[in-house]
This record gives sequence, C-alpha cells and structure tokens, in this order.
Amino acid sequence: MDSQRILRYADDVLGGPDEAERSRLAAMADVCDPTTTRVLDELRVAAGWRCLEVGAGGGSIAAWLADRVAGLSAAGEVVGDGTVEGEVVATDIDTRHLAELAAPQLTVLRHDITRDPLPGGRPFDLVHARFVLEHLREREAVLDRLRTWLKPGGVLVLESLAGFPVESSPNPAFREAMLGIEQVLAKTIGTDSTWARGFPEPLRSRGLVDVGMSVHLPTTGGGNASARCWTLTLNRLRPRIRDLRLASDAALDEALDRLADPSFFDVGFATAIAWGWAPG
Ligand SMILES: C[S@@+](CC[C@H](N)C(=O)[O-])C[C@H]1O[C@@H](n2cnc3c(N)ncnc32)[C@H](O)[C@@H]1O
Repeated sequence: MDSQRILRYADDVLGGPDEAERSRLAAMADVCDPTTTRVLDELRVAAGWRCLEVGAGGGSIAAWLADRVAGLSAAGEVVGDGTVEGEVVATDIDTRHLAELAAPQLTVLRHDITRDPLPGGRPFDLVHARFVLEHLREREAVLDRLRTWLKPGGVLVLESLAGFPVESSPNPAFREAMLGIEQVLAKTIGTDSTWARGFPEPLRSRGLVDVGMSVHLPTTGGGNASARCWTLTLNRLRPRIRDLRLASDAALDEALDRLADPSFFDVGFATAIAWGWAPG
C-alpha cells in the first residue's frame, strides 16, 4: 500500500462497487436521511423543482427528491393533477450503486464535481451535497462552482461531517478508533472534519442569504445503523490506519467488539447541515 502518494476518495480508500460499500452507504442513509429530508422539507423543496444531488452515493436522497419534484406523497401517491415536470440530476464519480435507481424525472450522471461542467447545462432550484466536500481538497473551489449552478432564488444545502464530540468519549478504544478514522482520511485524501464547524459562513461569504444551520448528532450503539456504518468504515480503513500507525490493533479489535455489543452506546461524529438562498 502506497501511503505516501496523494490519494483521492475513489482511489480505493473508500467507495468501490462491492457489497460492503453498498451496505455502508445504506447504513449511512438509515442514520442521516430522516434529518436530511426534514431539512429539505422545512426548506419547502417542492413539486416542479429542478434539483442536483452531488455525490449521490447509494441514491436514497435522489430517490426522495425524485418523488418530491414529481408531486408524489411519501406513500408514492400523486398529489395534484399529475402534470408536474420536476427533475433530479444525481451525479457521482462512481455511479455503480445508482444503477438500479429509476424514475422518469431522474437522471444519473457519472460526473467529477471538481472539474466537470454544469450537469445538464442548466442551473438548479436546489443543489445538495452530503458527505462529499469535506473529502475533497478542492472543497472551496467546488463550493464556488456549486454556487454558480444555482438559479436566482435557488437554495444550496451542504451536509458535512463535524468531528467535535469524539475526544470526549469515555470509551478509550472507541475514541482511538474514531480518531484513527478521522486522521487516516485527513492524511490520505485530505478530509477536513473541522471545515463544517465554520458553517454557515462559507455560504454567507458567497452571497447567499437567509442562511441557516442545523446539527445532527447520532447515537452510535445498540446495534443501530450508525454502529453498522462505523463498523464497515473501520473494517475498510483498518489496513491504512495500521499502515500509518494511527491506532493500535488491540484498540481497533476492542472498538469493533464494542460496536457489535447491543449494550454499548456512545456518540461519534456530528453532521452539520447548512443552507443558503441565492438572491432572487
Ligand atoms: C461518503 S459518500 C456519501 C454518499 C451520499 N451523498 C450520502 O450521503 O449517502 C461520498 C460520495 O461522494 C462521491 N465522490 C467522491 N469524490 C467525488 C467527486 N470528485 N465527484 C463526485 N462525487 C464524488 C463518492 O463516490 C461517494 O458516493
């Protein structure tokens, strides 16, 4: 393993087509979708909107948006006269976990957010990215691009990992493992889990108005989706954590045992969600 080379997310650090990655994305969606969709609801994402889902992963939010812009209720029933023409463009550098996503108003595009042009060639009412920009060294330049892809009156929603509760964990092995994940991602692909602590300023400084922010701090344990997600992430990153000597094998074994223990509870990372509107 070449730990000195500058790597990117899809250089087999995370991502990839296998079943474990599919399960990791599904667990991530189980943990985070209720908060994401609550925020999108509160922002009144509506039938007829044109939406961009950046780094769509397993596609759960793209699918939710596709129903919403088509004017379907949560139960999949048509609300209104059925003539609404919304659209969702779901992009990812790797679209293999999006292959089964299908809806008439949904387009899946293989697209690198750091360099490819405006997907579909027209600006959006909503641009949403969850757990993408913090993993990209070019996050500020990417945010500049996302800002220009908004229609006047459109809304940009960013969700990002925020590392603040981990140091205070009372479980030493869990703390060491979670900090190992944070540090290995910082050292390999340049992930910045402190970036979101400055939200919503990156939106305000780009001229967005009515900015706001919410924080979600999921409990990890009791065999829940968050515990599954961190178990899969830890298993995936363990060889690199070991390679860079960021945590002891004993601590990682113990952390995995704790995550599998139904009586264990702790809190890992938070998610910061910020939004802002383009003046219309
Ligand atoms: C942690 S996953 C999050 C997936 C999804 N947004 C979610 O929250 O469930 C990060 C996603 O960003 C994608 N990604 C990484 N680098 C990218 C890039 N340069 N352009 C577009 N997508 C990228 C990955 O392939 C992966 O699907």
